[in-house]
Amino acid sequence: NINVGILGTGSYLPEKIVTNKDLEQQIDTTDEWIRSRTGIEERRIAKACESTSDLGIIAAKKALEDANVDAKEIDLIIVATLTPDYTFPSTACIIQHQLGAKKAAAYDLSAACSGFIYGVASGAQFIESGLYKYVLVIGAETITKILDWEDRSTCVLFGDGAGACVLGPVNDERGFKSFVLGSDGSGGALLSQPSSGSKQPITPETIAAKANTLKMVGSEVFKFAVRVMGNVSEEAVEKSGLRKEDIDFFVPHQANIRIIEPAMKRLGLGMDKVYINLNKYGNMSSASIPVALDEAIRFGQIKKGDTVILVGFGAGLTWGATVVTM
Ligand code: ACO
Repeated sequence: NINVGILGTGSYLPEKIVTNKDLEQQIDTTDEWIRSRTGIEERRIAKACESTSDLGIIAAKKALEDANVDAKEIDLIIVATLTPDYTFPSTACIIQHQLGAKKAAAYDLSAACSGFIYGVASGAQFIESGLYKYVLVIGAETITKILDWEDRSTCVLFGDGAGACVLGPVNDERGFKSFVLGSDGSGGALLSQPSSGSKQPITPETIAAKANTLKMVGSEVFKFAVRVMGNVSEEAVEKSGLRKEDIDFFVPHQANIRIIEPAMKRLGLGMDKVYINLNKYGNMSSASIPVALDEAIRFGQIKKGDTVILVGFGAGLTWGATVVTM
């Protein structure tokens, strides 16, 4: 089997910053409530003219440069997103064209906040099997475009951004050591965009009822997230054949600091071993993990040879984790 690893990473955040104080002017909330319940202080918001592919392309170009791989060498592009430019064509095809990735196959992947983990797990299989050499995996969202800006229980939580990585063959010590993926569709209604597809097509009536915006039963998703983040991380370590002590760093999905802290306790890792950027960006769904990974590498918190857990959970419900040596 060919050993697969992460050759390079990149990320991009829209320029516009909206702070909790700014939101205080718009809805019945406070900086204190948002900060103490979630850890979020501010988030980035894409411009009206900025789409998910626009953010994803910039992150992808940075990842290709970091990996020293030309777009023309890419065999496959996977875009994990719950806010694609269109239902079709896929955002991956839009990015394939913009990058000039002439020989690449391209598809979108729908696993919400677990999408990036699903993406690297899927992409790695193509390389391990020998079918492809280089796979570009992007997590990109303009989630603020599907929020109900009058619903304080959801609109304060999310932000826009994109992260990417290039997967390819690596030597034996490096690379992915395990993948854990899972789903429980019985929890689908806990986090959804009800009017967005064939079940409840977007009509003037569904728009008037705001059924085309993100709906979440926050307290239920919270309980699920706390349970699953610890469980899945432990399972990924066990499957990798390593011990908890071998883990150098933790890059979790960035939804809420109160979801991350219990997972760190269970893994026996101190809070200095986790990268947190939800204070700056909020929950960016599929973009949260790749942006955090890219920043942790750039800021020197993850070094070559470090063994890292990436873990996500989200709508579906879905979850996923991987142990990877950088
Ligand atoms: N400002 C002020 N008050 C608020 C706000 C707000 N922005 N939002 C809710 N409240 C109020 C509620 O109305 C409620 O008031 P009440 O008690 O008078 O009814 C009170 O605060 C408490 O609300 P809870 O929902 O119980 O607050 P909780 O402590 O559970 O925190 C939160 C809510 C932050 C949403 C939490 O449940 C959470 O983080 N859930 C998980 C969210 C998540 O991770 N989602 C993403 C999954 S990933 C994906 O795929 C997109």
